[in-house]
Amino acid sequence: MLKLAFIIDPIAKLDPLHDTSVALMEAAQSLGHQVWITQANLLSVVDSKAWATLEHVQLQKVVLVEGHWEVNLPWYQLGDRIFAELETMDAIFVRTDPPVDALYLYATYILDYVDKAKTLVVNDPQGLRAANEKMYALQFLTSIPETIVSADKEIIREFMRSKGAAILKPLGNKAGEGILYLEQRDRNFNSIVELSTLQGKIPVMVQTFLPAAKQGDKRIILLDGVPIGALNRLSSGNEFRNNMAAGGTVAKTEITPREQEICAELAPKLQADGLYFVGIDVIGGYLTEVNVTSPTGIREIDRLDATHLGEQVIKWVEQQKLGKIT
Ligand SMILES: Nc1ncnc2c1ncn2[C@@H]1O[C@H](COP(=O)(O)OP(=O)(O)O)[C@@H](O)[C@H]1O
Ligand SMILES: [Mg+2]
Repeated sequence: MLKLAFIIDPIAKLDPLHDTSVALMEAAQSLGHQVWITQANLLSVVDSKAWATLEHVQLQKVVLVEGHWEVNLPWYQLGDRIFAELETMDAIFVRTDPPVDALYLYATYILDYVDKAKTLVVNDPQGLRAANEKMYALQFLTSIPETIVSADKEIIREFMRSKGAAILKPLGNKAGEGILYLEQRDRNFNSIVELSTLQGKIPVMVQTFLPAAKQGDKRIILLDGVPIGALNRLSSGNEFRNNMAAGGTVAKTEITPREQEICAELAPKLQADGLYFVGIDVIGGYLTEVNVTSPTGIREIDRLDATHLGEQVIKWVEQQKLGKIT
């Protein structure tokens, strides 16, 4: 039996039928492990060691009923509350949602005081700091669409000159928040750029518009650099964003040879950065985002493909721990 800690947002706000954090915790429990939860603001450093206020949690099993996940309420029950050294845990999952703000960064600095030889941290705090979810993709030159990052209106205007349309993205958001469709001739061009860059003070990403987004934004889950599952997300109504949180629907899909190539290009870098559990977004064969903080999609993939990705991830953790002991 392993002791696993999950750094999550307040548990009452999680959705057991959708959130990957819950799927992972449930999988850990059903494989016989102890599940403890904590939050970014409940971490401390004492005597140069990372500590946390942890609560033991017990989860109801989420089950598929006629193609939908269902769970009995209340879906979780809290037990003992302890203040313990994080190294007493076998593994820690960092699953706090963006934004990557000061609290988030401070939590990663605290996690630097966990001895990696004793406790596996998924994802590695240094990797979490190194990888801005939007910008990390830019190093994979053969996989990305034409993209700039700038706070400068004239640089953005120049980039737009050769493009009919582009997508403007704040660098620290998630779930489609603040994503804007931009046209060179848009009468609001100046205002859009001013508002999103806070008058030129904060850089944003501007990326060539990929018409293939209409056929979906694919989420591929990678475990230790290896793709283990995927789902397609389609926008609904007159919304262009494909995010599930923006009302997008999900559909069964496969990983294409081109997408395998993208994963292969990423794998060594992800492994070097300790980014063991990530979700990449691919539109029309182009890598648009590398989600490292709290990638989701496991519940949907398990439903569509009859997989048990949560258990696959926890079994991988078991193997890592076994490798350390022997
Ligand atoms: N280059 C692009 N071309 C067309 N649509 C895009 C592009 N980049 C993002 N989008 C749309 O915006 C949505 C969110 O983009 P993404 O970069 O994944 O940010 P996040 O999911 O963090 O908000 C995507 O699901 C897609 O619908
Ligand atoms: Mg995305």
